[in-house]
Amino acid sequence: ASDILTDTYNRKISNIRIAVTSACDLRCIYCHREGEGDNGCTRDDHASQMTKEEISELIGVFAELGVKTIKLTGGEPLLRPDLLDIIRSIPPHIESSLTTNGTHLAKLAKELKDAGLSRVNVSLDTMNRDTYIKITGKDRLKDVLDGIDAALAAGLTPVKLNMVVLKGMNDNEIDDFLAFVRARGENLILQIIELMDINGWTDDMDPAVHGNAQLVADLEKEFAKHSSRVTTRHMHHRRKYLVDGALVEVVRPMHNPEFCANCNRLRVTSDGLLKPCLLKTGNEVSVKGLHGDELKSAIAAAVKNRSPYFFAE
Ligand code: 5AD
Ligand code: SF4
Repeated sequence: ASDILTDTYNRKISNIRIAVTSACDLRCIYCHREGEGDNGCTRDDHASQMTKEEISELIGVFAELGVKTIKLTGGEPLLRPDLLDIIRSIPPHIESSLTTNGTHLAKLAKELKDAGLSRVNVSLDTMNRDTYIKITGKDRLKDVLDGIDAALAAGLTPVKLNMVVLKGMNDNEIDDFLAFVRARGENLILQIIELMDINGWTDDMDPAVHGNAQLVADLEKEFAKHSSRVTTRHMHHRRKYLVDGALVEVVRPMHNPEFCANCNRLRVTSDGLLKPCLLKTGNEVSVKGLHGDELKSAIAAAVKNRSPYFFAE
């Protein structure tokens, strides 16, 4: 534990999200790219990408500073050829997970588990093939469904299914998702995610997708009504419901002042920028080429740059 990780709003970083690549094999219409910058998951300039040694050193320093969980993201992390080496470098006392679109998960699940990964989040917004193609641009639904079952079989649990609710596209599938999760027991959790309109991209989209926030708010009310168990994880202000045996979490980043007030995350982009807040740009700190004490100073500087998005500057 260390002061370095506590920001000026007394929020302590316990959770690091590292983008290991900016490449992705899908083109989701709403993708925020984990704050990776440019539009579309098209930037795969490997030249500026952190090496596995750089990522491992960074993980080591964060571990030493007392970080508790590390999540690998992207782009699509399973596209990185040396991903298993990176996972093996994570100290065993740290909870490690990754967020994947699942297209390559079926063949990799067991190796990921054997490398020491704790669990996975799989992004899946629809179980309808045509809708899947509409949202992601690719015909890979079956691979993703196989990937989810492979992750469950490999023990990468709990597996969380990330579903971004898009009005007029997949909001008619909530019951299907609940049934899917229910059928697989408590090792599979449905995360209902409110769409974040962070780049104003919804302006270019079908007006039907507007009103997503209300949609998720209404859904949550419905879950609360039918739920036999509700717990609140205060740190994220994320509520959990047990809806007829299906575990559901509701994530509403844009309509939750506490989401920022309790934010304990620090992001690292694939090219080695520490990103103090997903929703802000311009205050990143580079760790590219830094080692030892210089690396620690850069981390301290990035933590100092953190201010809550929902508060006045
Ligand atoms: N709003 C909400 N969630 C998003 N994701 C990507 N872009 C957005 C957005 N604009 C989610 C994906 C996936 C994870 C990588 O981030 O659905 O679950
Ligand atoms: Fe973006 Fe993830 Fe979709 Fe790839 S799978 S386009 S990274 S949201």
